[in-house]
Amino acid sequence: MSESITITDNRTGESLEIPIVDGGVDAAEWRKLVPGLWFFDPSFSTTAAASSAITELDGENGILRYRGYPIEQLAEKSTFLEVAYLLIQGELPTTDQLASWTHEVTTHTYVHDDFRKRVFDAYHYDAHPMGLLTSSVAGLSTFYPEAKEIDDPDIRMQQIIRLIAKMPTLAASAYRFSIGMPYVFPDNDLDYATNFLSMMFKVAEPRFECPEAISRALDILFILHADHEQNCSTTAARVVGSSHADPYSTIAAACAALYGPRHGGANEAVLRMLKGIGSYENVEAFIDSVKHGDGRLMGFGHRVYKHYDPRATIIKKAAYEVFDVTGQNPLLDIALKLEEVALADDYFVSRKLYPNVDFYSGLIYEALGFTKEIFTVLFAIPRTAGWLSHWSEMLEQDSRIARPRQLYSGVGVRDYVDIADR
Ligand code: ACO
Repeated sequence: MSESITITDNRTGESLEIPIVDGGVDAAEWRKLVPGLWFFDPSFSTTAAASSAITELDGENGILRYRGYPIEQLAEKSTFLEVAYLLIQGELPTTDQLASWTHEVTTHTYVHDDFRKRVFDAYHYDAHPMGLLTSSVAGLSTFYPEAKEIDDPDIRMQQIIRLIAKMPTLAASAYRFSIGMPYVFPDNDLDYATNFLSMMFKVAEPRFECPEAISRALDILFILHADHEQNCSTTAARVVGSSHADPYSTIAAACAALYGPRHGGANEAVLRMLKGIGSYENVEAFIDSVKHGDGRLMGFGHRVYKHYDPRATIIKKAAYEVFDVTGQNPLLDIALKLEEVALADDYFVSRKLYPNVDFYSGLIYEALGFTKEIFTVLFAIPRTAGWLSHWSEMLEQDSRIARPRQLYSGVGVRDYVDIADR
C-alpha cells in the first residue's frame, strides 16, 4: 500500500500524489496543485503547525513521553530540573551537566528588587496573581535588552536559565502581594520545589522546612505539567516567537493563553464541583444530572486523550502520599466515588471520557496549602520549560513567521458614505 494520498482538482481534472510523512501531508505540496485554496481549520483541529521532537502524545493509547522517555518513568525517577534540561537539550544530563545546570538555575532566582517593587506596587492590592505574573514576565524583557539577540545560542541559553529560575520568584511574589504578605527572598540552599514553597509560605521561622513528601509531590506535579506538545499556550509561544520577539515577551504571551479557563483553570472548576456535590451520598444524583445535560463532569474528558490520561494515574498516587502527611482532603471520597460511578456508566464509557490531569491535581494543591487563585500560576512555572524548549526548537528550525490565511466572508467593495448621509 502506498504511503501517500492523491488529490484531484475537479475543476481542471489535474491530480497530485502527496507522500505521507510522520503521519501528515505537506501543505506546500497541496499548494502546488491548488494555489490560493486554503484549508479552513480555525481551531487547528486538523492542522499540524509544527514538526517537533520534544513530546510524543498518543491520546488513543494514553501515552505521553518527553524526548522518548515515558512520563511514568520520569515522574518516578527524575526531578523537575532534570526534566527541564531534557526538554531543552534533548538528552538526560550527566552528573556534571546536571550539577552545573542546577547551579545556574539556582543562582539566577533573584529578581532585581527595584523591578519587583515598582512592578507589583503598581497594582491594586487584590490583583490576580496570574495577571501579575504575566505582566512581570513581559516587563523583564526591558531589563535584559540583550535578550533580543535571539540568534546567539549563548544569549538564548542565558535567558532560558533566567526564566526557569525567576518564574517561581515572580509567581511567589505575585501571590504574597495579592494576600498582603511581605516578600520572601529565594533560598539558594533549597531545591527548586522547596524554594518555591519557602517563598510562598515562609512566615517568621528562620528557615523554611517541609516534609520531603510535600516537596517531592510538588516536584512531580511540575514534571507532569512541564510540556504537552502543541497546546494553546505553547502554540501562542511559537506564534509570538516566530515574529522574533524576545523570550520574555514570548513567555508572557504563553502565560496569557494559559490564564484562560479553558486551558489553565479546569482544576479549580473540579474543586468547585466537588464542594458543590457536598457529600458522598449525592454523587449518583450528580452523575444523573450530568447525563441529562446539566453541566459537565469537570476533570473528565480531553480533546486528545480518549483513554485514561496517564498524568491522572500518577497524580492519584501522589495524592495519597500527600494525604499521608497532611491528612486526607475530605473531597477525596467524593472524587473517588465520582470516578467509580462514571467509569461504570455507559454514558462516559461510550464517549471515552476518563479522568484527566485536573481531576486530582486541585485536591493535592489544596492539601499543600495553595488557594485556587494560584493554581494557574502553578501550571505556568513548570510549563515555562516546555514553552522555552518549543521556542528554541522553532528558532533552530529556521521557521517562517506564523501568518495564517483567512476565508473572507464580509461584504464586497462599496463607496464611503459621508457621515451626514448615513
Ligand atoms: N462531562 C460530561 N459529558 C462530557 C464531558 C464531561 N466532562 N466531556 C465531554 N462530554 C460529552 C459531550 O457532551 C459530548 O456528548 P454528545 O456527543 O452526546 O454531544 C461528547 O462527550 C464529546 O464532547 P466534546 O465537547 O465534543 O469533546 P471535546 O474533545 O471538544 O472536549 C473537553 C474536551 C473540553 C476537555 C471536555 O471533555 C470537557 O469539557 N471536560 C471537562 C473540563 C475539563 O476537565 N477540562 C480539562 C481538560 S485537561 C487540560 O486542559 C489541562
